[in-house]
Amino acid sequence: MSTLCRIQFVLIFMIIDLKPLFLHPFCILDGYAFFVLLSLHFSRVAKNVRLFGLSILSARFPDNLLHNLRIPMALYKQNVKQAADFLKENLSVIPKTAIMTGTGLGESVASSNVFAEFYYKDIPNFPISTVESHKGKLLFTNISGKPVLAMQGRFHLYEGYSPQEVTFPIRVMQELRIKNIIITNAAGGLKPEFASGDIMVINDHINLTGENPLVGPNIDEWGPRFPDMSRVYDRQLADLCTVVSGIKKISLQNGIYAGLKGPSLETPAEIKYLKKIGADAVGFSTIQEVIASVHAGFRILGLSTITNVHTPDNPVPATLEEIVDVAGKAVPKLASIISHIVGHIHE
Ligand code: HPA
Repeated sequence: MSTLCRIQFVLIFMIIDLKPLFLHPFCILDGYAFFVLLSLHFSRVAKNVRLFGLSILSARFPDNLLHNLRIPMALYKQNVKQAADFLKENLSVIPKTAIMTGTGLGESVASSNVFAEFYYKDIPNFPISTVESHKGKLLFTNISGKPVLAMQGRFHLYEGYSPQEVTFPIRVMQELRIKNIIITNAAGGLKPEFASGDIMVINDHINLTGENPLVGPNIDEWGPRFPDMSRVYDRQLADLCTVVSGIKKISLQNGIYAGLKGPSLETPAEIKYLKKIGADAVGFSTIQEVIASVHAGFRILGLSTITNVHTPDNPVPATLEEIVDVAGKAVPKLASIISHIVGHIHE
């Protein structure tokens, strides 16, 4: 194919929104398919056919080949609605509160009162977690007498997921009319007074991922173009945690969570930098979901389990085994706080 021809292809593909596919190294559309798509574009059914074609292509590519591609927002919205409709059709009760758990924390949700469960792979368009310590299941369970949607396993930027994919479950929750979200994660502590196994209430965050799920056309139906971020984490829910921790004699920390993309852990110089800019804990999750949750108008509670404490002047290597182990041991504390909060949350 001549260079001129290639340039024409790129320009026209940009016009018809197929830019992401064209630019992907695994996706080579031949000239015939191109002209079929182009003529369809100008027909009355073009829009739906294009969306359908993209869905087929997405489904056909195995093993996350479409990761990191920003798909057209119309298709994204349609995928979200399909997933939400599937859940609505299969549920008798739709909860108002959701819990998103992280590394080794999947068990923090009591699994004894589950009234419905779905593997991510069985929910239309739902991403699938590639991390072993994350389960990949959506549970609908009763906690303190209230129905709750509990995500066991989430999606990370470091796995290669785009911010859109990472926040796909948040948009599904929004379509289900969820109002409150409790997001937990495992994090490295940056304050010397923190100890491994501590629970930290997130008061605020610093987004150092270089990503934002709201980049691109705004879906006004979902939220404002420029959401306010002055009060991201709900003060009342955070205060409720302090009350619970007093009642249950659980020592609770408060602090600012810095979110990085990962997956490489922090160098001692990076730890010193994070401390200097005001962070108290560091991790590789939560930020994208929280931004989408603010956009969606959710009340947000963020809880970090401090799995390791950084000592940059005397660096000690952290391992995933240790992180998962400490997170697992902190589960009863976390579960106890969460069940109390759910019991008192205003729906
Ligand atoms: N850094 C990033 N993510 C983490 C850490 C850490 O030290 N500990 C647990 N998750």
